[in-house]
Amino acid sequence: MTPRIFSGQRPTGLLHIGHLIGTLQSWVRLQETHECFFGIVDWHMLTTNYEDTAHLGEHIQEMAATWLACGIDPERSTILLQSQVKQHAELALILGMVTSQSALEQLPTYKDMIRQLSHRDLKTYGFLGYPVLQTADIAAYRATVVPVGEDQVPHIEFAREVIRRFNSFYGRGQQILPEPQALLSPTPRLLGVDGRKMSKSFDNAINLADPAETVTKKVSVMVTDPARVRRTDPGHPEVCSVFSYHRIFTPEAKVTEIDSACRRATIGCTDCKRQLAANLNELIEPIREGRSRWIQRPGEIAEILEKGNTRAQSEAEATLRAVRSAVGLH
Ligand code: TRP
Ligand code: SF4
Repeated sequence: MTPRIFSGQRPTGLLHIGHLIGTLQSWVRLQETHECFFGIVDWHMLTTNYEDTAHLGEHIQEMAATWLACGIDPERSTILLQSQVKQHAELALILGMVTSQSALEQLPTYKDMIRQLSHRDLKTYGFLGYPVLQTADIAAYRATVVPVGEDQVPHIEFAREVIRRFNSFYGRGQQILPEPQALLSPTPRLLGVDGRKMSKSFDNAINLADPAETVTKKVSVMVTDPARVRRTDPGHPEVCSVFSYHRIFTPEAKVTEIDSACRRATIGCTDCKRQLAANLNELIEPIREGRSRWIQRPGEIAEILEKGNTRAQSEAEATLRAVRSAVGLH
């Protein structure tokens, strides 16, 4: 049997190249080997952005259009909108009964997010329950594999614990819900053009919708080796963020060449950046164009989501029948 995957993304707005290399490229590949469920998790978005939901609908469109442009194929994978598959909510409610409140409070992601988003009041029941809802997303499809970034590993570990507890209470020796495994993305985390974490809130991301000139401009302001003041100073690629991008977006032979040229000062930073921008644009161009074509066809996006939601509902409902019966909710 082909193993089943669930993964999700919060509809935050424009997607950037970090999303592409960290998540979407691996999802696209996994479609070859796994049965995939990919969720636009709008309820999760509400846990942190409940105060301003004016652009939520737009962001959902944006996410669907970008996923499709990147090669998520609705013929092969189920693309769903979390809030339209109510079984996620029912399962989260039931799993909440066996979830330890202090385990939630002790998750490193919980404290970090409250600290990072200090301008928002995240002392809410909904935000505390974020990982329970995430567990339900996965368990609703009895998915065993969850492709995620490193930052999400504590949440998958947590999901395993909740599911273990659920099975031990209600399984009578059987696994009603399987314990999922995290599948880490092979690509290292990409930093923003300013060297900080790539994030919309820092305005340091290269977006998949950016026109070529914008990409070139963003690359041109990237921080390089601070010790390389003059063109004739030898550089240290290992401390340069332009070089860390080359490692990901430039063919290996060329990367080796840049490495030694930088150390011998036979390449200048302007030229080095120009090459990076060209490679980035080559990668982004088809995605940018695909995205803008999809954005102009909201009816087709709606149809794809409706089909995905229907399929998701029927799979999740089968799980919920087993869950209700195990718990004794007849
Ligand atoms: N928490 C995940 C993130 O921020 C998004 C997410 C929600 C998710 N539900 C999920 C990821 C289920 C994997 C599986 O990236
Ligand atoms: Fe960085 Fe390239 Fe300049 Fe070297 S030449 S410091 S790798 S931008």
